[in-house]
Amino acid sequence: MAKGRIVSGMRPTGKLHLGHLRGALLNWKRLQEEFQCFYFIADWHALTSDYANTEIIKESTYDIIMDWISVGLNPEQSTFFVQSHIKEHAELYLLFSMLTPLPWLERNPTYKEQLKELSHKDIFTYGFLGYPVLQAADILMYKAIGVPVGEDQAPHVELTREIARRFNHIYEEVFPVPKVVLAPTSKILGTDRRKMSKSYGNAIFLTDTDKEIDSKVGQMITDPQRARKTDPGDPEICNVFFFHEIYTDKSTCKEIHAGCKSAEIGCVQCKKMMAEGLKEGLAPIKAKRRELESRLDKVREIVNDGNDRARSIARETMAQVREAVKI
Ligand code: TRP
Ligand code: SF4
Repeated sequence: MAKGRIVSGMRPTGKLHLGHLRGALLNWKRLQEEFQCFYFIADWHALTSDYANTEIIKESTYDIIMDWISVGLNPEQSTFFVQSHIKEHAELYLLFSMLTPLPWLERNPTYKEQLKELSHKDIFTYGFLGYPVLQAADILMYKAIGVPVGEDQAPHVELTREIARRFNHIYEEVFPVPKVVLAPTSKILGTDRRKMSKSYGNAIFLTDTDKEIDSKVGQMITDPQRARKTDPGDPEICNVFFFHEIYTDKSTCKEIHAGCKSAEIGCVQCKKMMAEGLKEGLAPIKAKRRELESRLDKVREIVNDGNDRARSIARETMAQVREAVKI
């Protein structure tokens, strides 16, 4: 039996960090075995908030695809493409916009939240409100059965499901109704214990140098109750320890856990050990990345191939859609 198809995308708004790796990419990598995966750069989506500043979008498109390959996504197994290169997305988006009731968009929790959070940007636009309609076009174009996203994106997939049902009901049964595939990986926090995000300045990037890593880890907030080295700490609530659990071997983790509780290990030493593990963990990713940077033509070829594969499916779907709509 053919593998089911899944689709997910990322907005190209800068280089990737550990939050992307732990929250999305490792999951995407795992899913490659089980599904036919379509992963794309949502550059039109980036325009919804950055329409006045498009430089970063173009810059980060290829950066992100190199990051994907560096962390082990396989372009031979999965399809990587760029949204704006497949013009069919725009047509499907337009048709969906005709049948999407405005209240569905206005009550979208992500929309309301973003309006507040991005209050420094003028995003009271038609395009920003329609963000989930474009996302529905991205997903349904490939007749995906699943959409691997973080919890924050679940309302958008819910809207996609509603749009699929509405289209099928009004015209013909063209689209399967896709499910959310939530990532099992636990969220990694930023150096200040808030959600890791470039805009908070608390992110550790996949491409950070060893020196940058040392300095960021040095500034990490630990157990806030542990004011002096002689105070016992609680690793269970310490973000540094959370990183140890990912990047340090099990037996050393145990020693650190005990040493922290008995105040035998100080935070400075503990952080140094963690930084070593983290640097080691990122080294193979960075090595792969350097190799790709020296072969940009190869990266372009990967994207062109992916675009071709995506486009041929998009054309088929659009033929069915036009037939159903009779226009
Ligand atoms: N909205 C998603 C995000 O910000 C990006 C995205 C666009 C997407 N289209 C998609 C994700 C389709 C999954 C499927 O993360
Ligand atoms: Fe956190 Fe390590 Fe300090 Fe304990 S010793 S509080 S685990 S940084």
